[in-house]
Amino acid sequence: MDLEFKPLSDHFGAEVLGVDLSQPIDDETFSAIEKAYAKYGVLVFRDQTLTEPDFINFTKRFGELHIYPLAEYAHKTYPEILVLSNIVDDEGNAIGLNDGGSTWHTDNSYTKVPPRGTFLYSLEVPIDDSGNALGDTVFSSVTAAYDDLPEATKTLLQGRTTTHSYEGKHTLRMKIGKYKRKPMTKEILDKLPPVEHPVIRVHPQSGRKCIYVIAGECKGISGMPDDEAETLLDDLAERCHRPEYVYAHQWRKGDVVFWDNCVVQHSATQNYDLPLRRLLWRTTIKGSIPAAN
Ligand code: SIN
Repeated sequence: MDLEFKPLSDHFGAEVLGVDLSQPIDDETFSAIEKAYAKYGVLVFRDQTLTEPDFINFTKRFGELHIYPLAEYAHKTYPEILVLSNIVDDEGNAIGLNDGGSTWHTDNSYTKVPPRGTFLYSLEVPIDDSGNALGDTVFSSVTAAYDDLPEATKTLLQGRTTTHSYEGKHTLRMKIGKYKRKPMTKEILDKLPPVEHPVIRVHPQSGRKCIYVIAGECKGISGMPDDEAETLLDDLAERCHRPEYVYAHQWRKGDVVFWDNCVVQHSATQNYDLPLRRLLWRTTIKGSIPAAN
């Protein structure tokens, strides 16, 4: 296949032209996509028409699939696929996770081994009366945010860790999310206990340093008084999402977007309501334990 990569922003992201993901991909094309993934951190493939097996087979080439910890939102026939949607069935039940990604985050950072990469495939996009697509996914470069930190902060954060908790994310989304979340259960808490990760994470392939702090989800910094840690975590989170590091992806039906959870954070824009429908499939590939700097 004749591939072309069109950069999407100053710091990261490229649109990949010339590939049909429903067709077998030869090794040379695959290797070019792998290299581009390492270089750009976010890849966008437009105008795809995929079945569930097409989507799974493509994503599986990048690594073993990571299964989302809360099974109730999985595709009924293909549990590797997490369904993200605001659609409800005839009984009024949500067909998928309706507030997935509604605050800045990187996927499953509250687990010991967070996924390396995430793929989204869009099947339905909410369009307003003026023909504008709603429900953008917004990405920000946490490598660029790290690079621009003051040197004293980089030195201060060397070797330090913070605690990520699913409960923190859940509480934040209960508070500010537009959809009502089910209350936290002991079963979920037991399944997803808090985990310690480096505040600055080193990319396992490139060695680039990335800020690994999620607003609302991280608590404390090792070896630092709580009040100081809280101020610094807020500052780091704010820096990660400055406009100069951001690319907003406006969805079209048939887009596949694939990102590296170490180098970008992302957030779903929930500026649409039924009857405007949004439906995406998500798969994730297994990663490694985040390494410290
Ligand atoms: C996610 O965070 O995985 C979902 C993002 C989105 O729905 O835009």
